[in-house]
Amino acid sequence: MEKELNLIRENALSQIESSKDTLSLDDIRVKYLGKKGSLTQVLKSLGNLDAEKRKEVGILANKIRNELEEKIKDKKDLLKIKEINEKLQNEKIDISMSKKCSKKIGHKHPLTIVLDDIKEIFMGMGYSIFEGPEIETTYFNFDALNAPIDHPSRDLQDTMYVTDDICLRTQTSPVQVRTMLNKKPPLKVICPGRVYRSDSVDATHSPMFHQVEGLVVGENVSMADLKGTLELFAKKYFGEDTKIRLRPHHFPFTEPSCEVDVSCFVCGGKGCRVCKKEGYIEILGAGQVHPNVLKAGGIDPEKYTGFAFGLGLERIAMTKFGVTDMRYLYENDKRFLEQF
Ligand code: DAH
Repeated sequence: MEKELNLIRENALSQIESSKDTLSLDDIRVKYLGKKGSLTQVLKSLGNLDAEKRKEVGILANKIRNELEEKIKDKKDLLKIKEINEKLQNEKIDISMSKKCSKKIGHKHPLTIVLDDIKEIFMGMGYSIFEGPEIETTYFNFDALNAPIDHPSRDLQDTMYVTDDICLRTQTSPVQVRTMLNKKPPLKVICPGRVYRSDSVDATHSPMFHQVEGLVVGENVSMADLKGTLELFAKKYFGEDTKIRLRPHHFPFTEPSCEVDVSCFVCGGKGCRVCKKEGYIEILGAGQVHPNVLKAGGIDPEKYTGFAFGLGLERIAMTKFGVTDMRYLYENDKRFLEQF
């Protein structure tokens, strides 16, 4: 194990040393020190060793962890200075230029473009929009969604808590229950908003991102209605030839649950770079609303049924616009934003 640790240390140090910008340095940090990073994995596996060995290896692993953290910090400081200097070099303002420059009017952020398109499609199908709070009780975020206190999504590692029973919502699903407590069925809503998870920043993760929840409750609402609705949405959003595919999955608040893929809008399902040769791209989670969730919303599950779905805006925007790194969406760099 010591050998493995020293190898991790050497590899990490040389990658830190040769990293050229702060983005790739972030990736290196995640690779070694992130939740699933190789050093973290070693620390997690210490429990399998006997006490004496555990202490020895634990001390070494923590020493390496501290060393890597420090090296990453130093390198980050250096790279930041380098990046600022490069920016200053490249973005000099010519103060001798005539002041007759035209004022540029801004435009919608790519995430807003995607959200507006989604809203328009669902409003066309008779949905209304309902919003809930970003600071949410653990009751609405978990319990009311059939995820009791011992559910793994409530782990301190995953969820940002304000107090023991108030958190930053980890999903827009709590708005399902808030809607049911406010409106009588039949109801059809979409609920867009920001959600938060304790994730490190990398090309595909951010501690804050956006979701859109959908909820339909009425008499005899079935999985077939869910499929028809999502198929119509996919065709309108990604193009008339788009097909969808439902794969069985598990969510505590739906039964049955599924994940939904759309046929790749670039290659039409043949397999290409955008769909990573799969032919299909995963876009959302969905299912038939669990009777316990209907009950939490004050709705009689014997009389009414429903379906729900939740999609990630960033994921849809990145697929649709071919954005390869999520961080671009939050950096407010005009050169990126102007392309949409
Ligand atoms: N809340 C889920 C998540 O954040 C997404 C989701 C899955 C929402 C299935 C739903 C659903 O309404 O039915 O991963």
